[in-house]
Amino acid sequence: MACDALAAAFGQQVSYPGQLAYNQSQASFTSTQEALLSPACVIRPTCAQDVASIISTIVPGGCDFAVKGHGHAADGGFANIDDGVTIDMTSLTMLSLSDDGAVVSIGAGSKWIDVYTYLDPYNVQVAGGRNGQVGVGGLMVGGGISHFSARAGWSCDNVVNFEVALASGELINANKSQNSDLWRALKGGGNNFGIVTRYDVATFAQGDISVTLTMNDVSQRSAVFDAFANIANAPDFDPYTALAVEMYFNSTSKLWIIANEAVYTQPVPNPPVYDELVAIPSISSSNKITTLPAYANSSAIPQTYWLYASATFAPSTSFMLETFDIWNNTFFPIEAAGGVIWFCHFETVPTVMTAYADETGGNVLGLSPKDGNGVAPRYYIVMLISAFWTDPTQTQAIQDAGKTALEKVRSAAKSKGVGWEFQYLNYAGGFQDVIKSYGPENVEFLKKVSKKYDPDRVFQERVPGGFKLPA
Ligand SMILES: Cc1cc2nc3c(=O)[nH]c(=O)nc-3n(C[C@H](O)[C@H](O)[C@H](O)COP(=O)(O)OP(=O)(O)OC[C@H]3O[C@@H](n4cnc5c(N)ncnc54)[C@H](O)[C@@H]3O)c2cc1C
Ligand SMILES: *[C@@H]1O[C@H](CO)[C@@H](O)[C@H](O)[C@H]1NC(C)=O
Ligand SMILES: *[C@@H]1O[C@H](CO)[C@@H](O)[C@H](O)[C@H]1NC(C)=O
Ligand SMILES: *[C@@H]1O[C@H](CO)[C@@H](O)[C@H](O)[C@H]1NC(C)=O
Ligand SMILES: *[C@@H]1O[C@H](CO)[C@@H](O)[C@H](O)[C@H]1NC(C)=O
Ligand SMILES: *[C@@H]1O[C@H](CO)[C@@H](O)[C@H](O)[C@H]1NC(C)=O
Repeated sequence: MACDALAAAFGQQVSYPGQLAYNQSQASFTSTQEALLSPACVIRPTCAQDVASIISTIVPGGCDFAVKGHGHAADGGFANIDDGVTIDMTSLTMLSLSDDGAVVSIGAGSKWIDVYTYLDPYNVQVAGGRNGQVGVGGLMVGGGISHFSARAGWSCDNVVNFEVALASGELINANKSQNSDLWRALKGGGNNFGIVTRYDVATFAQGDISVTLTMNDVSQRSAVFDAFANIANAPDFDPYTALAVEMYFNSTSKLWIIANEAVYTQPVPNPPVYDELVAIPSISSSNKITTLPAYANSSAIPQTYWLYASATFAPSTSFMLETFDIWNNTFFPIEAAGGVIWFCHFETVPTVMTAYADETGGNVLGLSPKDGNGVAPRYYIVMLISAFWTDPTQTQAIQDAGKTALEKVRSAAKSKGVGWEFQYLNYAGGFQDVIKSYGPENVEFLKKVSKKYDPDRVFQERVPGGFKLPA
């Protein structure tokens, strides 16, 4: 079968159940649901040509496969597979800054902390994941929200060239002048078109950043949501701003806590833009000037069961309050053995972020400033519901609750006239119809691109993991 053929060609790069390299790949998933799947073998390409040859070896044999970056997707089967082959990209870690410093080439198996650490001495950076352990591979093809979103758009908007291994085993570039349709499709289209082997990404000048972290009692939520809205909706919105309001619920203590991550991407101590937020009575509040790599240097999270679900809506503080009540009413009654932590976010997608795509060849996310956040409101809110737990007997109840809460939020948003179709791929649950949420024009475009570069639909039918383009 495919593993034997791969082993004949790639030797030690192929590992089998019981072997150390196989175990390491399995252990590196953040979600237990992924780690519980058992591929027949794991292969670790070390260069782009390997990836192309692997595809040429697997595809004719009819074996299914999965593409794994740094394993941060929540759902089982997104980047791993039972019985098939898992292509673990994490050895593709080349990093190379162009002579003029304008573009950094990133091996698709890199994680963000390595990119930031490499770039910091050159005083340039790129717009990537906030948690440095997250993979470049998955975040980029799903969009990418960063501390720099208001200056640099979605992470994917900054890709000037993708090097991609196609289903045919061909290795091609997709950029503004060559294969530009594929270039645009990969900016949000997920793993539907090929395996990206290298991302060439535009950099920007960047020094130290200012990080304000505050925690509030849940009774302050109304004031926190007001501050969030006032900051995001300011007529003179400051593009160095990056604010996420995160709310944790511990099912054992039954306590909610608000944690605000207020980053300012200039080394300004206590930036005034956050004055209203900082003035709210808090449990703790701190500000520090730090480097991006030091701040993104999160420790690896232990493997647990994970749930992700996401929706997008127009700004409305009253709707944020209503959303909180939906979360609380749905999650509060759940008595999960072993405990569950619900971790819910509000993040802003400001107008300047969606406008950026128009200057960089477009993406397929289907968000555009004219959709209502051009003049006012000036931003969207992306909501993330996530949960982590350890006891498998609780999985069904937790997943049902996550789904119920999402459905309630979406239908409440619709009835209040603040709902948006867009569902953010990197925050969505496997049950969501993400690609459809990009709108019919984008779906048609993606189908056309798929027909051209993957006429046999290998990346839908043979690579079952991830959000799939419908036939
Ligand atoms: C702790 C944590 C923090 C996060 N922080 C952020 C954040 O700040 N901003 C944000 O936008 N998102 C964030 N996310 C979400 C994150 O973007 C997604 O989980 C993303 O899919 C992770 O990419 P990965 O390579 O680590 O994951 P994987 O699970 O390995 O891959 C995810 C998907 O991408 C596909 N894929 C991976 N590599 C490639 C490739 N080279 N070519 C084609 N397809 C590929 C896989 O097949 C899979 O379907 C975070 C997630 C976690 C768990
Ligand atoms: C890999 O994991 C399996 C199952 O947990 C274990 O039996 C085996 O000893 C491990 N192999 C190595 C080399 O650690
Ligand atoms: C675009 O792709 C072509 C064809 O492979 C390549 O020659 C060119 O250098 C690429 N451009 C960029 C900006 O990478
Ligand atoms: C949740 O609350 C319980 C009870 O107070 C505590 O023991 C546990 O450490 C908390 N879990 C987390 C992850 O904070
Ligand atoms: C990240 O943390 C590790 C372990 O704490 C440390 O060894 C490493 O130097 C840190 N890297 C950066 C860029 O701060
Ligand atoms: C959450 O719901 C519970 C049960 O209905 C209620 O007692 C509690 O006050 C709510 N919490 C908040 C912060 O509203």
